[in-house]
Amino acid sequence: MAFCAVALIVLDCGSVPNGLNLIHLDLIQPAMKKLLIVYHSMTSGSLQMARAAAEGAAQEPQTKTRMLHASDTKFEDVLEADGYIFVTPETLGSMSGLMKDFFDRTYYPVMNHVQGRPYAAMVCAGSDGSNAVRQIQRITTGWRLKAIAEPLIVCTHAQTPEAILKTKCLTEEDLQPCREVGQAIALGLAMGLF
Ligand SMILES: Cc1cc2nc3c(=O)[nH]c(=O)nc-3n(C[C@H](O)[C@H](O)[C@H](O)COP(=O)(O)O)c2cc1C
Repeated sequence: MAFCAVALIVLDCGSVPNGLNLIHLDLIQPAMKKLLIVYHSMTSGSLQMARAAAEGAAQEPQTKTRMLHASDTKFEDVLEADGYIFVTPETLGSMSGLMKDFFDRTYYPVMNHVQGRPYAAMVCAGSDGSNAVRQIQRITTGWRLKAIAEPLIVCTHAQTPEAILKTKCLTEEDLQPCREVGQAIALGLAMGLF
């Protein structure tokens, strides 16, 4: 557990021959670390990934996890968090419009205030996902965030309009890596590793 032990040593020359008297040992608990999961989803795949990441993060009680829809996330939410997970669908060869809107609104207010903080990226895609990952990486490079894991892409193999528009049901195999990344970043934050 991440506790700081602070020993206060007070000189008391009158009572102790060697001049040192250990008066207290105070345990001070540091502020709880905060993980912010920002997501957008049209057909539920990215939402399931974000929820799995939050479940994993919940395994680490010393980190407080908030999951916010991209549209509800303000730059103040980004500033007050210590680490991030960004979860988006890939649509039309890009991160989704609302995820882009989130980054457009927060990019400059946050710039130069979050450098060095850890993050992970997750993308739900029908067949590719790599462009959405690249776009997130460019933005997080601008913010000088530190990736704590390889980006996760879950491919739903939805190719027809019907399959693409259908609500997705991701498998355990898809979701477990999201849980693991959520747990890893929450644990690392709690332990002060980043
Ligand atoms: C308008 C539209 C465009 C899409 N374009 C892409 C694409 O460029 N690359 C890709 O891999 N998947 C593409 N898809 C498929 C989605 O990524 C896939 O359906 C995924 O499940 C969406 O995530 P969500 O379930 O969280 O909404 C597209 C879907 C829609 C609706």
